[in-house]
Amino acid sequence: MARYEFPKNFWWGSAASGPQTEGRIEGDGKSDNIFDYWYSIEPNKFFNKIGPGNASKVYVNYKEDIQLMKKTGHNSFRTSIQWSRLIPNGTGEINQKAVDFYNDFFQELKNNGIEPFVNLYHFDIPMALQKIGGWLNRENVDAYVQYAKTCFNLFGDKVKFWFTHNEPIVPAEGGYLYGFHYPVKTNHLKEAIQVGYNEILASALAIKEYKNLNLDGKIGIILNLSPSYPRDENNKEDVKAAEISDAFFNRSFLDPCVKGYFPKDLIEIIKDRDIMPYILNDDLDIIKNNVIDILGINYYQPRRVKAKESPCIKTNMPMPEDYFDNYDMPGKKMNPYRGWEIYEKGIYDLLINVKDNYNNIPCYISENGMGVENESRFIKDDGMIHDDYRIDFIKDHLKYVHKAIKEGSNCLGYHMWTCMDNWSWINAYKNRYGFISVDIDNNFKRSIKKSGYWFNKVSNDNGFED
Ligand code: BG6
Repeated sequence: MARYEFPKNFWWGSAASGPQTEGRIEGDGKSDNIFDYWYSIEPNKFFNKIGPGNASKVYVNYKEDIQLMKKTGHNSFRTSIQWSRLIPNGTGEINQKAVDFYNDFFQELKNNGIEPFVNLYHFDIPMALQKIGGWLNRENVDAYVQYAKTCFNLFGDKVKFWFTHNEPIVPAEGGYLYGFHYPVKTNHLKEAIQVGYNEILASALAIKEYKNLNLDGKIGIILNLSPSYPRDENNKEDVKAAEISDAFFNRSFLDPCVKGYFPKDLIEIIKDRDIMPYILNDDLDIIKNNVIDILGINYYQPRRVKAKESPCIKTNMPMPEDYFDNYDMPGKKMNPYRGWEIYEKGIYDLLINVKDNYNNIPCYISENGMGVENESRFIKDDGMIHDDYRIDFIKDHLKYVHKAIKEGSNCLGYHMWTCMDNWSWINAYKNRYGFISVDIDNNFKRSIKKSGYWFNKVSNDNGFED
């Protein structure tokens, strides 16, 4: 038996987002975001045709939910403000009901000893702004900065940990490369790059506004990072392929957000393919001078790649996969429900990379978790879901977080995805991730799973034995 003790004041908790948890009720003043709209025109794209209006009703249940967070060991919790709830037209008038809701939600968390971590953007652009092109349009950057400033002014006295975006690469790749987010385009790398660039610029401008307000808090970004492993470390071509995929999917955001500039190898490719984004004079200085205070790392799975087997045809629409092939490693451990590889050491490799190559910036694991289908089959006589697989998953990842901290990583916490089962984009309620189950057929009834009780103990003991 070994004891895994974590640093004092380690953040134990979970992450969620406004659009995936709040739900909508008549008269709440929220407008449509891209997911509300997409669901209204193509409900069959969503698992079991369940849309975001049926997210887990935190908008009305938050007080009881916070009591469950306490019972599951939370000393911190991340959610996001819904832009389409606070400023329904994207710009202009503020919805007072949203102000009251978020004020009360954040205050209630604090009253219960749970530090609110607040993210400004979790894939949920207001439809009014998508109609003018969304993140492709520079006006969206200005609107976002105004929205961010409004949030800092309204809630900056309570919220001390802000994040400008969650996984900003996802709206770019989901919306313009692989078609799993609205506007459901595929193979549009030039647009994806413009979207990503505008998000990075918007983040830097929001950080600048935050610093100008001299509020006593920290601001960062949440990135989904997947360590990029070559099929064969001794094969130069495989290693090169892994480096390029790392540039596209990790360093594209990590470098500008932490170091203030874009990776050279990525710029070379983008110039070569003639898909540079539209950049104004001061932009690069703004990005350089407004880097993050803290990095949130979402880790689910590694990326395994090999050298391209067929040559890239430059007359086709450019794609990241022109530069590497994905490698399906035999024997890898899988989460079959989500189809994602489980590779615990990846979390350690990410933390050590941040320590060695990103100035050991303060960071934390902002998401890690395991989505499983049909968890009711694990209910035992005590009526509880016995999700031992989730306990093992967390434990095995935490051991590597612990090892990285021992070796000097500045990792300040671990948040699981997610607190209670929530609505997850086109997967809706297919895979359940929570410490707390939500019975969508029984008035959204909540019950703590075995992993929730286990996590409570880990948090109280600030570690575990295994
Ligand atoms: C993360 C996102 O990438 O993965 C969450 O930040 C999302 O919003 C989670 O719900 C799980 O993804 P999925 O598609 O399995 O539900």
